[in-house]
Amino acid sequence: MTINPVFTDAAPVEPVPPAQQFLLDVVEGLSARQKYLSAKYFYDAAGSDLFEAITRQPEYYPTRTELGILDDNGPSIAAALPRRADLVEFGSGSTVKVRRLLKHLPDLSAYVPVDVSESFLRSEADALAMDFPHIAIAPVAADFTRPFTLPDDLNGEAVAGFFPGSTIGNFEPPQAARLLAHFGRVLGRGATLIVGVDLVKDSGVLNAAYDDAAGVTAAFNLNLLTRINRELAGDFAPTAFAHRAFFNSRASRIEMHLVSLADQTVAVGNHTFHFVEGESIHTENSYKYTVAGFRTLATEAGWEPVSVWTDGAGLFSVHALRRG
Ligand code: TRP
Repeated sequence: MTINPVFTDAAPVEPVPPAQQFLLDVVEGLSARQKYLSAKYFYDAAGSDLFEAITRQPEYYPTRTELGILDDNGPSIAAALPRRADLVEFGSGSTVKVRRLLKHLPDLSAYVPVDVSESFLRSEADALAMDFPHIAIAPVAADFTRPFTLPDDLNGEAVAGFFPGSTIGNFEPPQAARLLAHFGRVLGRGATLIVGVDLVKDSGVLNAAYDDAAGVTAAFNLNLLTRINRELAGDFAPTAFAHRAFFNSRASRIEMHLVSLADQTVAVGNHTFHFVEGESIHTENSYKYTVAGFRTLATEAGWEPVSVWTDGAGLFSVHALRRG
């Protein structure tokens, strides 16, 4: 089962129009024995806003904890990066986190945000250029999970990467290792990678983070059904499904599901799918690592662990890795 963006080293195959690909993916996922939907479809306009709101929920500790680690250890993290480096951020999205790093990197040569959303890239790049006039901003519009090349006019003395947000945890561990190896190929020999990784902890804390009392994560998960209704002529009744998130300790991951509250048949375009009461659609995984476990994964992917920073409560970790 693949519920995350499929990551391959192969050149992209025949481009399928996005709307058609969405339908193909939904039909495939809802036809599986354990139904699933790819998490990449969470992020329409409403989903992106809801995700921002998740990061502000009191129960959702990862964002503020990672920002705290970056703030509390700025000089030490900066020291792990080569001077006059070109810094590549994979899946940059908003630039809130990298700004905390840039403050401590007066000698940075260039910042290279890599993101699929071109319009978002452009507006964020403009804002950054105003605030950090000494840094060249060289955005790349690309899917960071696929091969892409860095701009050829970079003239830093070394290359570094930044991958915050524990996005690495949203990949199956073997895919996560392949993604780290791919980052190594993109960045090249001698590169440094700074990566944010959420840590294994008490399951009550984890469960609450993905099922906040205000219902924002629930709304985010259910928005996927609303999107299918709108874009693929679906007839999901979002009130006939419930958000469920739980820590699967054997797999060391939070699983997010949408649980059918009744026996029902749902149409998507001219396809129909049957649900029995209690049956779920698996929509996301968020793997949690120990520091040692993540270091092992990184080592398998060709990276050497250099430093790690955590918050006082040991909730979250930021790793510096080096490629030989
Ligand atoms: N990578 C973060 C995490 O796993 C953010 C995230 C990705 C997320 N998908 C999510 C958070 C779905 C909540 C729900 O926590």
